Amino acid sequence: MVKSTQKFMVEELDRLRRVGLYNKIKTIESPQGAWLRIDGKSVLNLCSNNYLGLANHPVLIEEAKKILDEFGVGPGAVRSIAGTMSLHNDLEKLLAEFKNVEATFSVQSGFVANQAVIPSVGADAIFTDSLNHASIIDGVRLTKAKRFIYAHNSMEELEERLNEGKEHKRKLIITDGVFSMDGDIAELDEIAKLASEHEALLMVDDAHGEGVLGSHGRGIVDHFGLGHNDVDIDVGTLSKAMGVVGGYIAGSQLLKDYLEQKGRPFLFSSATTPPDVAASIAAVKLLMKDDSLVRKLWSNAGYFQKGMKDLGFDIGITQTPITPVMLGDAKLSSTFSKKLLDEGVFAMSIGFPTVTKGAARIRTMLSASHSIEDLDYSLEKFEKIGKELKVIS
Ligand SMILES: Cc1ncc(COP(=O)(O)O)c(C=O)c1O
Repeated sequence: MVKSTQKFMVEELDRLRRVGLYNKIKTIESPQGAWLRIDGKSVLNLCSNNYLGLANHPVLIEEAKKILDEFGVGPGAVRSIAGTMSLHNDLEKLLAEFKNVEATFSVQSGFVANQAVIPSVGADAIFTDSLNHASIIDGVRLTKAKRFIYAHNSMEELEERLNEGKEHKRKLIITDGVFSMDGDIAELDEIAKLASEHEALLMVDDAHGEGVLGSHGRGIVDHFGLGHNDVDIDVGTLSKAMGVVGGYIAGSQLLKDYLEQKGRPFLFSSATTPPDVAASIAAVKLLMKDDSLVRKLWSNAGYFQKGMKDLGFDIGITQTPITPVMLGDAKLSSTFSKKLLDEGVFAMSIGFPTVTKGAARIRTMLSASHSIEDLDYSLEKFEKIGKELKVIS
């Protein structure tokens, strides 16, 4: 019996089911990897952000186990109140070296990093790309700044908005580095020029560029040959290519000192656990030493994307291993995804509100952990279902 005060939830869930937007979350019964077990069945994984296959890497597991014995399972409390573990400091120093910045400031996740930095900066005008990630949107919502939303990756519109908002004192431009639903890359070099001309702070969320773009996966700032004089705030996550969990903000020592006093998720929420930090340190060290996983990721992406285009699929405007298969209709997309799963391929359908209405797609994520046989298997299944559903001929 549903309480009358909760009836609105039933109605909304029914509506989502009717329009094909109800997300039934799958239970994964195995570690992360190229193949997963779902409902007792082995399926090829084209869903996770485990770009480099590090989520179940033996070196990361070993390091996490060692630290588990030495430091235990929990951080105890909020770092600013109960003291910070040396481990978190070690991670921040290593990340600063990796990102070629003065300092980094680590928090519990990439999402949290955006909630920590955006309101702290205290901008009175925020210029934000229309396709920025939900965690940026929510970070902006926590401020009282005037919002200037510019059309996706349009430098003309960004410039127009900056001119409109020129009377504002403290301006902040925010962009995703790699856009997570389309896989295209922000024109960060052009944005940096505009930021400098208009004396605005520049922030990039590099969640999908980390471990993917730049030398040894150093990310989008490195990819464009920019420095942290050009990009003030570089937000990273340890939960995608790095295979663990956690987030951080890279930039100047001044920014770190400031965030340690102002970043509310740092001041009022506990830190990541010792094993998380140990595994993250191991991931960064591995990447600094050897870029073979980054190269494998890109060769897998190239192979799969060429295969999909040759089959006649529309893979949108991607420039990275994120490969959307554009289907348009939400119901078609969810039917396609269900049929793929029946055929042993796990690839999620994504619809409104994550993407705009009429732009539903299956978002496939390539990983260095895939073999060519895995990619051939998925291409074969996409071809079979694409023909069955008349998406390709
Ligand atoms: C652009 C972007 N920023 C931030 C996040 C959140 O990262 P995390 O999973 O570490 O909270 C995501 C995750 O999907 C993302 O795509």
